[in-house]
Amino acid sequence: MRTRRSNLALVGLPGVGKSSLGRRLAAQLNVPLLDLDRSIIASTGVAKDSVEGIFAREGEAGFRIRERSAVAALDEVTPPAGGAAAALGIGRIVALGGGTLVDPRNRWVISQCARILWLDAPDAVIAGRLRTARVVRPLMKRGDPEETLRTLRAERSRFYAIGARLESKKSPGTLAAPAIELLQNSPRGGGRHLLSAALPSGQWDLGVGIATESLLRVLRTRNARRVVLVSEPNAERAIGATIAAALKRAKISVTPLTLKSGESAKQLTVIDEAARTLAAAGIERGDLIVAVGGGALTDTAGLLAALYLRGIDWVAVPTTLAAQLDASLGGKTGVDLPEGKNLVGAFHQPIAVIADLDALRSLPTREIVAAMGEAVKIALLGEDRLFTLLEECATRIAAGDASLHEDGTYAEIVERAGWWKCTVVAGDEREAGLRMSLNLGHTLGHALEQAANYKGILHGEAVGYGLRAALTIGQELGVTPAARASRALALLDALGLGVAPRRESPAALVDATTRDKKVAGGKIRWVLATERAFEIRDDVPASLVLRAATQMLAGSGGKR
Ligand SMILES: NC(=O)c1ccc[n+]([C@@H]2O[C@H](COP(=O)([O-])OP(=O)(O)OC[C@H]3O[C@@H](n4cnc5c(N)ncnc54)[C@H](O)[C@@H]3O)[C@@H](O)[C@H]2O)c1
Repeated sequence: MRTRRSNLALVGLPGVGKSSLGRRLAAQLNVPLLDLDRSIIASTGVAKDSVEGIFAREGEAGFRIRERSAVAALDEVTPPAGGAAAALGIGRIVALGGGTLVDPRNRWVISQCARILWLDAPDAVIAGRLRTARVVRPLMKRGDPEETLRTLRAERSRFYAIGARLESKKSPGTLAAPAIELLQNSPRGGGRHLLSAALPSGQWDLGVGIATESLLRVLRTRNARRVVLVSEPNAERAIGATIAAALKRAKISVTPLTLKSGESAKQLTVIDEAARTLAAAGIERGDLIVAVGGGALTDTAGLLAALYLRGIDWVAVPTTLAAQLDASLGGKTGVDLPEGKNLVGAFHQPIAVIADLDALRSLPTREIVAAMGEAVKIALLGEDRLFTLLEECATRIAAGDASLHEDGTYAEIVERAGWWKCTVVAGDEREAGLRMSLNLGHTLGHALEQAANYKGILHGEAVGYGLRAALTIGQELGVTPAARASRALALLDALGLGVAPRRESPAALVDATTRDKKVAGGKIRWVLATERAFEIRDDVPASLVLRAATQMLAGSGGKR
């Protein structure tokens, strides 16, 4: 069982001095040091091998496979009896490679068996050390090292930031004492952090059992004394009640607001009533809304936050897979009208999104499978590793295999899909261009939800149907290559999305598409998949839409 976290994993940019600090810490704490790169090199059996040698023979992909095995083999090590190591519960120091934490599965394992220390220094300081080092690092061969370090920092900080950060310009060999002091003062929370991204739009934390500690950290940085905890019965049972109790223990006043479960919360009348509850409770601008629930809840609570007092801050704690990998990210909030879905809303970014994978354990399999509609959409837009991952585990997902919670699969799906969305949103928050791509599969998907009166079909299930129709249209217009479409359709079949025939009328669906938010100048803008990206087309003939809708509603029967 990897639960004691008796390893201390040192992480940080290449050249920052992890090995050097590792040696000092190991000596001072009287524990062994494991240099992960060295154990990877030893695994090849090649005399006088090196990381560069492995890269040259096996490519980076080969090295990363070896690295994953070395990480998977990490075990717990009993700390020595007595002394600082015993007090810290540390039995071994592990110096990781600069890129080890990039792999979500490595982070999954390391977060189970190790405490993490992020050794950091200004880029100029690290670059200076690299320039004068005896061994020439590969990094030095890639042009200006400071520039390379800046790029690596932008790519990797969200992974390193799951650890306690020790930043110093001093030589790493002199940092053992400050490192030990930092560890002594860092709370050993029960949660396992997997990602901590400081995005321009707000913080995004992902982990297991992290909801309470992450939320309290965010609220403390805001000096928040009072929050409105907006939730709904299922999410309250899963995690909301625990959060409320922890907030009260932390002496933060909680005004609870329980909405209806699911899509029925997404109504203007609900916003009206909720805003009046906030006014009656004397909620002020400095107070925050904490939204704990699925996408319907975060959409509604986010709109309430956008409108009340012309906007107050809010935090999203998504409790469904669909909300964790999609709905809670990106700052779109809204409610439905009888005329169409999400027709009233606002862009209002939460100051933090805290995705705790523990909340997903009570989700019915149907909800998990439905969430895959959005994940397949992201895969189709070009997240290739997500595409492969979904193909590898689609039948297990469809069967409700609970081990997917344990082996890091759901964590990886949330991270890959969520990060893709965050990147798209960062480039186009108000949906002037790139963000439109996220509507792939949604034109007929939303139309289907509306035709079904938002009953009996989940959002992600409707997206699954909508993706099939978009693939039909894309193929007929020569936008979507046949091989790409058939790979996506096979994945949807394996997941069981869009398989069963539906009773809605194709003509009613086509009519509903004319009220879609993407209509411009009376023309519907269709997002269609290309080989690894998307194209927007406003010239799709109505006859083709009708044919695609008819075919989509017939279902695939799962036979491909
Ligand atoms: N804002 C956006 O960018 C965006 C993106 C995608 C989807 N959405 C919206 O999100 C909504 C769909 O989200 P959803 O799929 O999360 O649906 P949902 O919020 O309706 O939740 C689905 C069901 O799961 C229950 N539930 C919630 N947490 C649970 C838990 N931990 N354990 C057990 N049950 C739990 C809910 O009570 C509900 O019955 C739609 O309204 C859609 O339009 C918004």
